[in-house]
Parts: sequence; structure tokens; C-alpha cells
Amino acid sequence: MRSHYCGDLRVEQVDEEVTLVGWVHRRRDHGGVIFLDVRDREGVIQVVFDPDRETSFALADSVRNEYVIEINGLVRHRPEGTINPDMGTGEVEVLGKELKILNKSETPPFQLDDHQQVSEEVRLKNRFMDLRRPEMQQKMRLRAQVSSYIRNYLDSNGFLDIETPILTRATPEGARDYVVPSRTHEGSFFALPQSPQLFKQLLMVSGFDRYYQIAKCFRDEDLRADRQPEFTQIDIEMSFMNQQEIMAITENMITGLFKEKIGVELGEFPHMTYAEAMSKYGSDKPDLRNPMQLVDVADLMANIEFKVFAGPANDAASRVAALKVPGGASLTRKNIDEYTKFVSIYGARGLAWIKVNELAKGVEGLQSPIVKFLGEDVAMQIMERLEVKDGDIVFFGADKTNVVNEALGALRNKVGVDLDMLTCEWAPLWVVDWPMFEQTSDGGITAIHHPFTSPSCTPAELEADPLAAQSDAYDMVLNGCELGGGSIRIHENEMQRSVFRCLGISDEEAEEKFGFLLNGLKYGAPPHGGLAFGLDRLIMLMSGTESIREVIAFPKTQTAACPLTNAPGEVSNEQLKELSIKLREKIKI
Ligand code: AMO
Ligand code: AMP
Repeated sequence: MRSHYCGDLRVEQVDEEVTLVGWVHRRRDHGGVIFLDVRDREGVIQVVFDPDRETSFALADSVRNEYVIEINGLVRHRPEGTINPDMGTGEVEVLGKELKILNKSETPPFQLDDHQQVSEEVRLKNRFMDLRRPEMQQKMRLRAQVSSYIRNYLDSNGFLDIETPILTRATPEGARDYVVPSRTHEGSFFALPQSPQLFKQLLMVSGFDRYYQIAKCFRDEDLRADRQPEFTQIDIEMSFMNQQEIMAITENMITGLFKEKIGVELGEFPHMTYAEAMSKYGSDKPDLRNPMQLVDVADLMANIEFKVFAGPANDAASRVAALKVPGGASLTRKNIDEYTKFVSIYGARGLAWIKVNELAKGVEGLQSPIVKFLGEDVAMQIMERLEVKDGDIVFFGADKTNVVNEALGALRNKVGVDLDMLTCEWAPLWVVDWPMFEQTSDGGITAIHHPFTSPSCTPAELEADPLAAQSDAYDMVLNGCELGGGSIRIHENEMQRSVFRCLGISDEEAEEKFGFLLNGLKYGAPPHGGLAFGLDRLIMLMSGTESIREVIAFPKTQTAACPLTNAPGEVSNEQLKELSIKLREKIKI
């Protein structure tokens, strides 16, 4: 139908006859002349209708926002003084000759320019409208371009795109499974994959050597701004490659992508151990744009009277740490109260602080509710260790190590943004040397990555002291966001069984749940490893978007529902019967 996209018209097309199709973005009546801004995928063009062409003028007068129209007309320069430098097509306009209405539109549920005035629920319910907004079109386009770049990069590096099943068995990645009842196997359920992890490992056993897939993953977990129940991974696996080689080839992919698609030079990524990340930043995904660091002060607090600090200072499972905020003495009481409330979300029972008003006056120059409990010597030793200056504030956390890390780690991020302290726009890094396991709150142990990650010790050493074991895992972090994670995998049956035993999975249970993997590892599994990037998170970062829902065409809400389709929905009794499922009374509606 069309000769050009509306948004593509430039001065080069002046004096050309064009046929355009698109949506009425806006209609304006300017003293007898009608202006239609017509929108398509590529942008908006101004079309002018004069009254001397009666039929098309009358039609132009009758159209409303979001009508679909076809226009035939002549491209011309805009008159002097009416050029719009904010529009790609701003130097030209089309003199409309013929107009055809291809379809009408009812009054839209919201005007595209007013999307901020409506709730996200309304936008999601009418997502087909919301996605017409140029900003959303831009994000979807970036997403398509990123997928295409990644495919090209991996294709040209010898990776094969292989699909793996969606109806499968549970793959433990730490979340709850979405399950699908089987009609043909009464009482049995498929699980949707939390990731293609086990299949990609088996593809290495099969000798494909290099695999990738842009794969849908499903996790029934608590949703946050950067989590969806259904999301997309760029999933990668390689054989006969060591950790350095895998990190190099994937880092190169990401740096190439940023350079080509958004003109950003990420540079070479620093490597940081997990231990250093936790100690200095209280986080396994530190935001290195933020210059502040946590400093341990337990040794200085061990002998003071104040139990709030002395208790944790003398407990191996606890931590006492300080966070110096340069220039933070200007924070008000109200600010500090808000931060105290903020850290309580992470379980902190308080947020002690010291303002440095005038260091030269010694302890007299400090303002704080706790200096009197610390005593002059300890207070001044802390100030010295933190190298404070007049005008700084120091916050303290004293509690179980994980509480202090989470609370002060989150506070560091928040204060860094609130006080505009970020020193650069992009800060990527690799976090390496992860522990294999961590303790759960009920005293058990769980794999920090997943149970197929290779420990960096022997099976005997692992079983002797699982919590001391390190693993060959690595995460790529960008601006405080975990962009991707991976590891060298276990390729020997014996080591895999050891890991299962450490996790309290008996040999029988391991056989029942993961027999297919254990079997695969018996028949010449090559050394292999890989990683997976979160595609949605990558697009969020590249497009500067705060919510993951903004970069997914049809996302789920915070309660894992879809307002557009009303999924999840009820099913009929017949369907339930076929599946041999009976609902419990209290959830029947
Ligand atoms: P992991 O669980 O770390 O590893 O996931 C890899 C990456 O996927 C993204 N991601 C998510 N994105 C949106 N919503 C979610 N709910 C969500 N969960 C994870 C993150 C994360 O870094 N099989 C392993 C990878 C491997 O070892 O190769 C895995 O799934 O960006
Ligand atoms: P209190 O004696 O409980 O009033 O506490 C004195 C100061 O220490 C207050 O500023 C509290 O916010 C702070 N505080 C209390 N418990 C902790 C803790 N576990 N970690 C850090 N600061 C705390």
C-alpha cells in the first residue's frame, strides 16, 4: 500500500508524490486548514489538507485520533519559521491530496501522550495501545536489535542454536516451579524450565561443543522491579573451555553489543572475588559507580560496654561495619530517621551514626547518639580508620553478618543515588571465586549458584567441609545489577553425587530426579561450562529503564497476572476431570 514510512520522509523526498498509511496521532484545525499528524512505526509526519480539495478536506475533518488512514500527497518544504528540529521529519510536510479511512477507532482508553496519567494496570490491560507509544516502540526495537546482534555474534563464533523442551522436569535454580498437569499420566506433572541448564549440559555430552538459545525461563518467585515469572535468557554453553576463556568470549560479546548499539565503551571488566565484594560493598553485585565502601570496625568495639556493638563484635557469625558518607553531615534528623526505617526492611534493628562537625575538636566535634557509649578513645580510633573529614557522617550496622551486609549494602546504594554520588555512567565487573554453598535459615545448606556448578576441590574435601568449598562460578555485574551468571560444570558422575549428598539429596532421590543427568555423566562427558544472561535486564540497562515490565511486550504484573488476557484463568470442570484434578473446597469459587 505505502510508498514510504511516514517517519522516513526527509528533504530528499521534496516534490515526490507519496502514499502513506498510519494512525492519526493528532488532528488540528488551524483556521480553515487541517493538520493531521500521521504516525507509523518510523515516526510522525505532518499532513496538511486545504479546503480547496473538498472531499478529502471533509474526510480529514471527520477523522479522530487513532483512525487508520491512507494518504496520497506531495512532499514539500515546511514554510520558513515552522521547521520542527525535534522531529525527524521536521523540515518537511505532505500536502494531502487523497485520503482514505481504512479503519475507525473508538475513543482510545487513554491518549498516548497522557499515558503517565493512567495507572500501569490500565496500560497493561490495553497493552496494544500502550505499545503504540514511540517510547515503547523504541524499546521493542532495541530488544529485537540486541537479540539479532547476539545471534550474529554467537553464530559467527561457531555456536549452534538448539531448542530445549518447555514441558520438562524441575531444574533447580532456587525458585518454585510452574507445574503443568499431564492428562495422559494421571497424577503426574511437568515442570516448566527454570532454565535450560540440564539440557544444555547434555548437549555438551552429545558433542555439540558450542550451544546457545534465547530461551524462555519460568520461575514462580517473589517479583521485584527486575524480576518476572516468565523471562528470557541468553543461554550459552561450551565444551573444552576454561573459566577465563568463557569469560573472555562472553565479555567480548557484551562490550561489542554496547559499543555497536548504544555507543558505549565499557572497557575491560575488573575481576573481584565474592569475599571482597561482600566485605567492601555488602553485596555480591556491587554497584561500582558508587565510591563508598563498608569498613569493618568490630576489633575496635570488642571491649566496649555498649552491648549493641560489643555483642556482634565478639560473635564470629556477626559483623560490625561502618559506612562513611562524605558530606553527609548535612543530612537532617528526618533524613536519618528515614534511612533507619529503610534499613529495617533488611532486618537491621537500628542505624547508629556519627556526624563529623569539627574533627580538630576531638570527640567534642562529633555529634552522635552513640559516642558516649563508645568512649573517647574508640570513637577517635574509628574516625581515624575511616579517614573522616569535617562534614562527613558515618553510619554503623551491628548484627548477624548477612543482616549487616544487606542493610548497609542497600543503604550504600540508596545514599549514593540520593546524594548524587555516582562517579561514572557504566561500571561492569566479574564477581569470581564464589563459595559453593551457603547456610539456610533452617540450618541446612543450599547451592549458591546451582548444584551442577563445579567445586574447586575434590569430592572428599567437599564432603568433609561443604561450607568451606569454593566453586568455579562467575557472575557478570553491571551498575549493581546481576546481568548474567555461570560456571564450570561438574562433568564427573562421582563429584555430582557428592554435591547431591552435601545438599541432603539421597542417592535414590538423585537417581529419581536427576538420573538422566547422572547417566549422561557416565558416558564420556567433556569438561564444559557456560553462563546465562538475563535478556530483559540487559535491555533495561541499555535503555535506562527502571522496570522490567517496560521492556517486555506483554509482561505480568507484580502479582504474576496478565491484565490483558486475564491469565491465569479458571478451567472447566471437564478439563479438571480429564486431568484427574479436584480443587480443594476453600479455593473453589
Ligand atoms: P541464574 O539463575 O543466575 O542462572 O539466571 C541467569 C540470569 O537470568 C536473569 N534472571 C532473571 N531475569 C528476570 N526475571 C527473573 N525472575 C530472573 N531470574 C534470573 C538474571 C540472571 O543473571 N542456568 C543458570 C545459568 C548458568 O549457570 O549457565 C541460571 O539460570 O540476569
Ligand atoms: P539504643 O541504645 O537502642 O537507643 O541505640 C542507640 C543507637 O544505636 C541508635 O542510633 C540506634 O539506631 C542504634 N542501633 C541500635 N541497634 C543497632 C544495630 N543493631 N546496628 C546499628 N545501630 C544500632
